[in-house]
Amino acid sequence: MTIQLRSADDLAKMREAGRLAAEVLELIGEHVVPGVSTEQLDRICHDHIVNVQKAIPACLGYRGFPKSICTSVNQVVCHGIPSEKKILKNGDIINIDVTVIKDGWYGDTSKMYVVGEAAPHATRLIEITQECLYMAIDMVAPGVRLGDIGHLIQKHAEANYYSVVRDYCGHGIGMEFHEEPQVLHYGKPHTGLELAEGMTFTIEPMINAGKQSTKLKPDGWTVETRDGRLSAQWEHTLAVTSNGCEVLTARHEEPFKRG
Ligand code: MF3
Ligand code: CO
Ligand code: CO
Repeated sequence: MTIQLRSADDLAKMREAGRLAAEVLELIGEHVVPGVSTEQLDRICHDHIVNVQKAIPACLGYRGFPKSICTSVNQVVCHGIPSEKKILKNGDIINIDVTVIKDGWYGDTSKMYVVGEAAPHATRLIEITQECLYMAIDMVAPGVRLGDIGHLIQKHAEANYYSVVRDYCGHGIGMEFHEEPQVLHYGKPHTGLELAEGMTFTIEPMINAGKQSTKLKPDGWTVETRDGRLSAQWEHTLAVTSNGCEVLTARHEEPFKRG
């Protein structure tokens, strides 16, 4: 297994890719309202990435994926395909996942949005899932092992009677979309890869209100919960620093220092 360590120059490029991906999540928020189609959201993101950022939407054409972002509504766990037929309605929850390529480097990030006003059980799932990501980010540092991080996420989700999706995980990222290592969102302490300064990867927990099992829809992309209950996800791209980590896809609304 070969895990790349990034130089200061590499990190400057990844910081820019991450900044652009975060910017897309920031600008799309005001468009996530009842009556909009996920196709319209895709169009706005695509045009901004291509025309304004002069960057590449990494999802478009990736292994045949037909759109520029993933839009995963309610029981959809991940990889929802934007469609003109999918009209958002009051109370929906949606994950928008944006990956851009700038200058050959990738930035990958997603967040949850509430359409209008959501039920308390839905906003609570969203909040706990974000806490899972934030607690994991807090833990990232040289010497920490991936099993420690997975375990922390699993503990927080299960303490709240939720379940952790096992079928999809975070990943190394750099000049390729998905690299080693796999970053599982469950695990055992003191196991797995030991982190070192210069590693870059995503953490992107998918947490289900019900059971963890998923099913793939016939379109070959859309992943749903088997029991039809809600799922939430948040994702950041991180770089391990000498004493912690840098969140390369931090948004202005978040408590992270931006580079
Ligand atoms: N952005 C997703 C991830 O976090 C991958 C989406 S691949 C696509 O790894 F083809 F569905 F866009
Ligand atoms: Co990712
Ligand atoms: Co992503």
